[in-house]
Amino acid sequence: MAVDVLLGLQWGDEGKGKIVDVLTKEYDIIARFQGGPNAGHTLEFEGKKHVLHTIPSGVFHHDVMNVVGNGVVIDPVIFKGELDKLIAQEPDVLKRLKISRKAHLILPTHRLLDAASESAKGKKKIGSTLKGIGPTYMDKTGRNGLRVGDIQLDNFQELYDQLVTKHKQLLSGYAGFEYNLDELEPTWFAAIEYLRSLDIIDSEPYFHTNLAAGNTILAEGAQGTLLDIDFGSYPFVTSSNTTCAGACTGMGIAPNTIKNVYGIFKAYCTRVGSGPFPTELFDITGETIQANGREFGATTGRPRRCGWLDLPALKYAININGVTELMMMKADVLSGIGNLKICTAYKYNGEVIDHLPYKLQDDLIEPIFTEVPGWDEDLMQMTSEDEFPQTFKSYIAFIEKEVGVPITLVSVGPDRAQTILRK
Ligand code: GDP
Ligand code: IMO
Ligand code: MG
Repeated sequence: MAVDVLLGLQWGDEGKGKIVDVLTKEYDIIARFQGGPNAGHTLEFEGKKHVLHTIPSGVFHHDVMNVVGNGVVIDPVIFKGELDKLIAQEPDVLKRLKISRKAHLILPTHRLLDAASESAKGKKKIGSTLKGIGPTYMDKTGRNGLRVGDIQLDNFQELYDQLVTKHKQLLSGYAGFEYNLDELEPTWFAAIEYLRSLDIIDSEPYFHTNLAAGNTILAEGAQGTLLDIDFGSYPFVTSSNTTCAGACTGMGIAPNTIKNVYGIFKAYCTRVGSGPFPTELFDITGETIQANGREFGATTGRPRRCGWLDLPALKYAININGVTELMMMKADVLSGIGNLKICTAYKYNGEVIDHLPYKLQDDLIEPIFTEVPGWDEDLMQMTSEDEFPQTFKSYIAFIEKEVGVPITLVSVGPDRAQTILRK
């Protein structure tokens, strides 16, 4: 009768999808609680790779229910595309999928507003995924949004028209921004029709009933703590609470139902899109990590910026989320790199600090590194931590000592099987 939460501690793409898939067999329900098609969660097993955007990563397990919670924003076109692909491989996937009536809808005009806003910002752009995430959450908090439950109302078209009229006014404020809504609407309405045929539920009582019956739930985060709207590197963030509290508001579960909080981090750092990144590498080491780690966005294909592990940022993320167990991903990528650096503090305005300052700005902040020996062994073939080289064991021990939370899982490759438990 508990909810466990799994979330990213960095700037997203930590490997959440892979680990949710690995852990799913322990749960009755997997639920997404925020974000939307800006997410790209990659799963690999039996020689196949799958990328999920809105659908929870438990979907390949046949006896588990997957719920898209109220905190998620859904683009019906992307959602249908994702399901069409899935159904080709998993014909009965719809039987294990439920959608919250309170999830908000991404309209074609939300995507247009995202594009218009980004282009107007020029060099200061957020580097959004252009999926309409920001404008949709703006309408949610501005109390103008359309929700999945609205598509079941008789006056849905009227509600849609009202909101689009507002959006057209906003779009007219972006001089020179051209668009053709007539081209986008038929596909969107066809996808809405499809959405109507799916299992739309009141998800909060569904979770409550299941918890009362003793069933277990895993809440799957999207993005990462440093992209959180309140606690991330604002304004270079996404528009939802990616942190543990987001699971409460994005599912309607109480804080005291949460038990384990699994914090996922890469053995280094990556970031896609704009914004500060204190430990970013601009040299051959960064390029090697990017190439070896195949660091290209699962949603947009953009190259991910790479840098060293940042412990002040990791500690901050652990505290914000109440992380009980850490899971370290992609250490295999660092094999053969030579000595490794770990950021343990920052120099900020001439002072040494070990916390994230209010103004996380690259030209104000200088990381202070500890250098540690790396390893050359290929970790990807290893199946137990006994096989780890001593230098890698020391890397793990160093992090655990610095942050004070155990690393209970180490991932050494993209495949489901390349996962080592340390409990
Ligand atoms: P998510 O958004 O947090 O689910 O992560 P992404 O799927 O966007 O990015 C993680 C990428 O790393 C994917 O391509 C995964 O297949 C891959 N991956 C996950 N874990 C590991 C690992 O331990 N080693 C390596 N080499 N790749 C991994
Ligand atoms: P997953 O779940 C990495 C980044 C974008 C941009 C900023 C705002 O796969 O870890 P948005 O489209 O949300 O308005 O973009 O957030 N971003 C992500 N980066 N992984 C993600 O999701 C991301 N979702 C959004 O690149 O910098
Ligand atoms: Mg991703």
